[in-house]
Amino acid sequence: MSWDRSSMPAQGGRTAVVTGANSGLGYEASLALAGHGADVVMGCRSLDRGRTAAEEIRERLADGPAWASAPDAGSLTVMALDLGDLDSVASFAETFAADFDELHVLCNNAGVMAIPRGETADGFERQFGVNHLGHFALTGHLLGALRDTAGETRVVTQSSGVHEQGSINFSDLQHEAAYDKWGAYAQSKLANLLFAYELDRRLDAAGAAVVSVGCHPGYADTNLQARGPEAEGATVRLYAMKLANALFGQSATRGALPMLYAATAEGVDGGDYVGPGGLLNMRGAPAKQASSDLSYDEDAADRLWDVSEALTGVTYDLPEA
Ligand SMILES: NC(=O)c1ccc[n+]([C@@H]2O[C@H](COP(=O)([O-])OP(=O)(O)OC[C@H]3O[C@@H](n4cnc5c(N)ncnc54)[C@H](OP(=O)(O)O)[C@@H]3O)[C@@H](O)[C@H]2O)c1
Repeated sequence: MSWDRSSMPAQGGRTAVVTGANSGLGYEASLALAGHGADVVMGCRSLDRGRTAAEEIRERLADGPAWASAPDAGSLTVMALDLGDLDSVASFAETFAADFDELHVLCNNAGVMAIPRGETADGFERQFGVNHLGHFALTGHLLGALRDTAGETRVVTQSSGVHEQGSINFSDLQHEAAYDKWGAYAQSKLANLLFAYELDRRLDAAGAAVVSVGCHPGYADTNLQARGPEAEGATVRLYAMKLANALFGQSATRGALPMLYAATAEGVDGGDYVGPGGLLNMRGAPAKQASSDLSYDEDAADRLWDVSEALTGVTYDLPEA
């Protein structure tokens, strides 16, 4: 299949929320969605970085890029969203509800990878807290808007091929007894998929016209890989990561395609998993794929759901699947 951002259906009149929209894949997704006419709400933990990114996107769209279909690009609204702070997540949802009547697409994209152990404002291990629990809470807050919007609406959650190395350590979810930065990342990315599929099952059981889909970008050259070495002051590893990105990573533009496909393409079903279909699923055009056996474990998904509701205090008005 050949699918790139010029293949995206028109998005005029549709509203999308993208988390982590100021950088990497979230930036590219915001650019592409607005270039096809969507009103994009960019959820960013730094308003300055968000506004700078939005201004750059507006300038790029003003040049009328060949791939963009909308004669008038959609709008870009930057809103503060720190997924490592449940109060910030709740305020984001309140501001969104005050300013927008509809929500067609929620892209749960923001993330951190392999950083030294730290905790969110609510005391959660940072990778589990930001990558999974923050998005769990955000989706719960926005579910009403997704359900009240006419037609099929979608929740897309960004995972990683690294989820295949993950397991959910229910006896030490926050990695207090032992911390392995890659193990914590893998757990958080497996949690993203367990959540995406369980959400879809529960939406289905409720007869809701919202579908939930998982995706991953393969290997894309973004700021993600630098954050861990930067935090550790590991200069040699930082430059090794940058070199590896340049040699082996696909562009962020291409890395954003699975998320954009999952969010907008026809023929996407709830519970699908979309990633690059080329070499080792690290690059190439988007294609539907299978994720790890563990990611389809319904008992683990159900248990994680209950724990996530208890930890975040955000409950979903959906029946168990
Ligand atoms: N790049 C890859 O090869 C790759 C592979 C597999 C999966 N992924 C996944 O793709 C997603 C996007 O990553 P990327 O590659 O685009 O990396 P990136 O360029 O570093 O972008 C990550 C985004 O997440 C934001 N973010 C981090 N912590 C946050 C928080 N507490 N609250 C709100 N936003 C926060 C960042 O904001 P700041 O700019 O303020 O830090 C940034 O906007 C992640 O979920 C990652 O796990 C990426």
